[in-house]
Amino acid sequence: MASVARSATRAFARSNPVRPAARSARFAVPLQTVRASGRRGYSSEADAGKSNSTLYWGIGLAAAAGAGYYFYSNGDVAKASGPFVPTKDDYQKVYDEIARLLVEKDDYDDGSYGPVLVRLAWHASGTYDKETGTGGSNGATMRFAPESEHGANAGLKTARDFLEPVKAKFPWITYSDLWTLAGVTAIQELQGPAIPWRPGRQDRDVSACTPDGRLPDADKDHKHIRGIFGRMGFDDREIVALIGAHSLGRAHADRSGYDGPWDFSPTVFTNEFFRLLVEEKWAWKKWSGPDQYTDKTTKTLMMLPADLALIKDKEFKKHVDRYAKDSEVFFKEFSDAFVKLLELGVPFTTDERWVLKATS
Ligand code: HEM
Repeated sequence: MASVARSATRAFARSNPVRPAARSARFAVPLQTVRASGRRGYSSEADAGKSNSTLYWGIGLAAAAGAGYYFYSNGDVAKASGPFVPTKDDYQKVYDEIARLLVEKDDYDDGSYGPVLVRLAWHASGTYDKETGTGGSNGATMRFAPESEHGANAGLKTARDFLEPVKAKFPWITYSDLWTLAGVTAIQELQGPAIPWRPGRQDRDVSACTPDGRLPDADKDHKHIRGIFGRMGFDDREIVALIGAHSLGRAHADRSGYDGPWDFSPTVFTNEFFRLLVEEKWAWKKWSGPDQYTDKTTKTLMMLPADLALIKDKEFKKHVDRYAKDSEVFFKEFSDAFVKLLELGVPFTTDERWVLKATS
């Protein structure tokens, strides 16, 4: 049933490319419609009991916490005899909890916190500099000023706060693993591709904050985009694939200054961003805000100058065309590039990645 809904949703998104919509309307495919029959049972009561009985062992434990050494006593099976080493099942529980909250807390933006979680995972990771090996998702340094105050990170407190109850329930997971796992969860739960993920990131202190200016500016051109993503180690194909995440969510006037969604289904991961880029006509929006484009047909969508750079540059455009035509190719190449993004600079101790199970 759920997969039928999923296919129908995608077919719908493809066959209804440009639908007039009011600025504040809920968009084409509300998450709850897609989810309605797909909710699964959760063992949240059991999980809650488990976390409540987590035993903190003072200073010694605090020292061990960074390495994931929490001691659990979970009622039926006493595990207090050794260090707690989380398994795939434990990470699946974290995934399930994030997915559950995404459904429960639907009174936000277009009905989902998913897009802003994807942006958190990306901004936590996109600070990586391959020359110095600094930045990247390892550390979760956006918890601290000055990084949390960087202009590019405006609005991401919403995503960090959303995840606090998850961190409280599963205190053994590092923020760095949690934020990247939340990005993975959001993409999968919003009907996107499977994203293989592995744990192993360690939180770092304020001294590891990255300098401002490592994330891309929305008002810049192809040279800037290549420079920023090249510093992380991405080629043209990967850059275009990654920016396809703009099929999700919207810009907010009180955050970046820009305003509006990129397509009509901002809570469903699709290749619509690319299709609209090539098939729709884009004109400068007449308003008092920063320079951005609007679609000529409905004037309800938007593109950033940096988005339009993807069709102005011939090499980028090749990939835009490929992805506009073929959603499966986009899903595959996005997944590969997103896995790479979330792993930049992380000193993993395991090669094994898991595809955690989506809820529908
Ligand atoms: C040239 C590269 C990029 C630029 C200039 C850019 C810029 C922006 C801007 C200005 C916003 C609006 C923020 C707001 O006002 O809330 C935004 C939102 C977003 N970006 Fe990007 N971005 C880029 C690449 C990426 C990448 C690589 C990803 C993920 C892989 C991504 C994912 C998102 C998502 C999901 C949102 C929506 C957030 C929400 O709904 O709250 N972006 N981006």
